[in-house]
Amino acid sequence: MSNKPKVYIETYGCQMNVNDTEVVFSILISAGYERTEDISDADVIFANTCSVRDNAEQRIWGRVEQFNLQKKNRDGVIVGILGCMAERLKDKLLETKKVDIVAGPDSYRSLPRLLEAVRPGSPQIDVLLSREETYGDITPVRIDKNGVSAFISIMRGCNNVCSYCVVPYTRGVERSRNPHTIVREAEDVFAKGYKEVTLLGQNVDSYLWKCDSGDINFAALLDMVANVSPELRIRFSTSNPQDISDEVLYTMAAHDNICKHIHLPVQSGSDRMLEKMRRRYSREWYLQRVARIREILPDCGLTTDVIAGFCSETEEDHKLTLSLFDEVCFDTAFMFYYSERPGTIAARNYPDDVDIETKTRRLNEIIELQNKKSLESYRKDIGKKFKVLVEGPSKKNPEELCGRASNNKMCVFPDTFHKAGDYVEVEVLSCTSATLICRLV
Ligand code: SAH
Ligand code: SF4
Ligand code: F3S
Repeated sequence: MSNKPKVYIETYGCQMNVNDTEVVFSILISAGYERTEDISDADVIFANTCSVRDNAEQRIWGRVEQFNLQKKNRDGVIVGILGCMAERLKDKLLETKKVDIVAGPDSYRSLPRLLEAVRPGSPQIDVLLSREETYGDITPVRIDKNGVSAFISIMRGCNNVCSYCVVPYTRGVERSRNPHTIVREAEDVFAKGYKEVTLLGQNVDSYLWKCDSGDINFAALLDMVANVSPELRIRFSTSNPQDISDEVLYTMAAHDNICKHIHLPVQSGSDRMLEKMRRRYSREWYLQRVARIREILPDCGLTTDVIAGFCSETEEDHKLTLSLFDEVCFDTAFMFYYSERPGTIAARNYPDDVDIETKTRRLNEIIELQNKKSLESYRKDIGKKFKVLVEGPSKKNPEELCGRASNNKMCVFPDTFHKAGDYVEVEVLSCTSATLICRLV
């Protein structure tokens, strides 16, 4: 038994937070801590948090109550809040007396110092945002279970101030990470047996590394990472409709190992709403980008995010969202109703005036339509052959494996021979609205 203090972290929110938790473990392990997956064994309990919607925060508050029960059982347990809620609520979190440490997304290098300094009755906080921090030199300690797919952050922060969104306030200004450290990280995970990396940023298309020998944009970065090995698949998220360039689409087309899937959040189908949301594109622009994607990458998977019931949304605006969903036929969508976030442009300027019944009804209408469209999109793949990267046994049947096709659709197929990390060829026999049912070929 080692006597190193043990750290337990629960992660909420986006994939970037998953990667941040890996960075935090790396920093803490270098400082003499060790990781535990058992909360009842932990000396330090952290929640890496999300503020994007109110219900995300409410759930985390429920967990903080649970963490405090651990404190009652064992003396000296430290409870901390990391990430976006830490940044949004700052010292208000300390006033609750339920947390000992508060550290924002750019403060993780301070964690060993904060943990050193924390005493009963003297909590520690660091929520300074940085213009430079990218944790570029830190090798994340992978926390995923399957050892196949890894997240790599290529940038932090966001410079778009979409009026509903809290992210620019919790994550600070946009900064890109040195591409050489990104490539090195991709090489490192590949050497460790990983077969897929997902490059992460709030707006990957605005990635830019300025350099005397020529600037490196997102298309150039994709090319560099794709060249690590033809056996390493590349995914990325999130693309912004205003910035996704033809150059990126052509780079995707040029490399078999760059997966043909684009997550392209639309948020609304109404120009009036898009303008109020401060998205910098119109419905027409969005549809043109989709047409271009389908022209250059005919088999590309397409997914989206949408917000129902934003400030002053009328039935007419809502119908425009439905008609856009009908027209585009996304594979899947993350669908939410608007949740006002304190301090954002929308919260300061527009009343949250669509009542909750209407928001829920509109959201349900979008979900119902999208379920039909998902089925339509998955059906189009019946009879096609795909190269699938095996992730492991399927959830429902141990005699079946599952893994994703390039277009990001989940495939299941009877197979007791292959294992996680293998590439296999499958043919699609049938489908549900979320899974392609296949056989090995
Ligand atoms: N950078 C990405 C989105 C990050 S947040 C982009 O620009 O698309 C992920 C999703 O959460 C958003 O796409 C949006 O659909 C949703 N979201 C953000 N703020 C929200 C709010 N206040 N209420 C409801 N949904 C919200
Ligand atoms: Fe939020 Fe807009 Fe930035 Fe996405 S692009 S993180 S929605 S402000
Ligand atoms: Fe949530 Fe922060 Fe990500 S608010 S969605 S964890 S950037």
